[in-house]
Amino acid sequence: MTDHVLLERPEDHPGVLVIRMNRPDKKNAITRAMYGAMALALADANDDDGIRVVVLFGVPGCFSSGNDLTDFMAIAEERNENRNVAAFIHELARFTKPLLSGVDGLAIGIGTTMNLHCDLTFATPRSLFKTPFTDLAVVPEAASTLLGPHVMGHQRAFAMFVNGIGFSAEEAREAGLIWKIVDEDALEATTLAAASDLAARPRQAVLLSRQLLKGDVDTVLTRMDEEMVHFLAQLQSTEARQIFEAFFARKK
Ligand code: COA
Repeated sequence: MTDHVLLERPEDHPGVLVIRMNRPDKKNAITRAMYGAMALALADANDDDGIRVVVLFGVPGCFSSGNDLTDFMAIAEERNENRNVAAFIHELARFTKPLLSGVDGLAIGIGTTMNLHCDLTFATPRSLFKTPFTDLAVVPEAASTLLGPHVMGHQRAFAMFVNGIGFSAEEAREAGLIWKIVDEDALEATTLAAASDLAARPRQAVLLSRQLLKGDVDTVLTRMDEEMVHFLAQLQSTEARQIFEAFFARKK
C-alpha cells in the first residue's frame, strides 16, 4: 500500500468516500502503487453498500501532474505492461456509482483524462487541464480518444490531446470537460455538498440514470485496451526515452 493515496469518510457527508491523491512534493505524480491503491478503493467502493458516491481530490494547487515519469521509464525498460494503470482506468470505466472530482491547479495527463469518467467536476479558476501526450511521444489514454470527442467535439479534443494545448478552467468548462468553476476556499465544500446531495437521492434511481447516461461500458474498455497497446509501444521508443531523460536532466 501507499501513503500517497488517502481514503476519507467525512463524518458530515454520510455515504461519501473521498479518494485523495497526496504526493505534494512530486506534484501528485501518480506511481504504480498509487494506481493500485486507487483501483482497489474504487473496486471496494463499488461493492460497498455504505458508499453511494466517490469524490476524487488532490492537494492545494495540484490535482495531479499525471503519470510518474520515473515509472514510465521503468516500464519502458522492463518492456512490461503497467497492470496497475490498466486496473485503475478499468475500474474508472466500470464504476457504477456517481464519481465526482474537485480539481485545484495542475491536471496533467491522466489528471485531465480521469475527469472524463467523472459525472461532475468542480475546478478552481487557477486550474490547468493539459495532456502533453505527443510531446512525450505517446498517445492519449483512459479512453480519452473516445470520450474526448464525445464530450467536447473533435476539434477541441484534437487541440487538447494531439496539440497538447492546455485548457484553462474557463475553457474546460466551455468544452464541457468540467461542470463548474469554484474558488479555492470553497472547492472541497462545494464538491462534497454535491456528493451529499447525490448520496441522499433514491439510490436505484440515481444508479439507473447514471448507467443510462454513460452507455456501453465495454466500448470504453475496448478503447482503453487499444490505446494501451499503442501507448506501450510508443513508450518503448527511443524518442520517448530521450524525452523522459531530458525531463529529469533539466534541473541538473
Ligand atoms: N513524474 C515524476 N516526477 C514529477 C512529475 C511526473 N509526472 N511531475 C513533477 N514531478 C516532480 C519533479 O521532478 C520535481 O521533483 P524534484 O523536486 O525531486 O526535482 C517535483 O515533482 C516538482 O516538480 P517541478 O517540475 O519542479 O514543478 P513545476 O511547478 O516547475 O512544474 C509540472 C510542474 C507538472 C508542470 C512539471 O513538473 C511537469 O511538466 N511534469 C511532467 C508532467 C507530465 O509530463 N506528466 C505526464 C503526462 S502523460
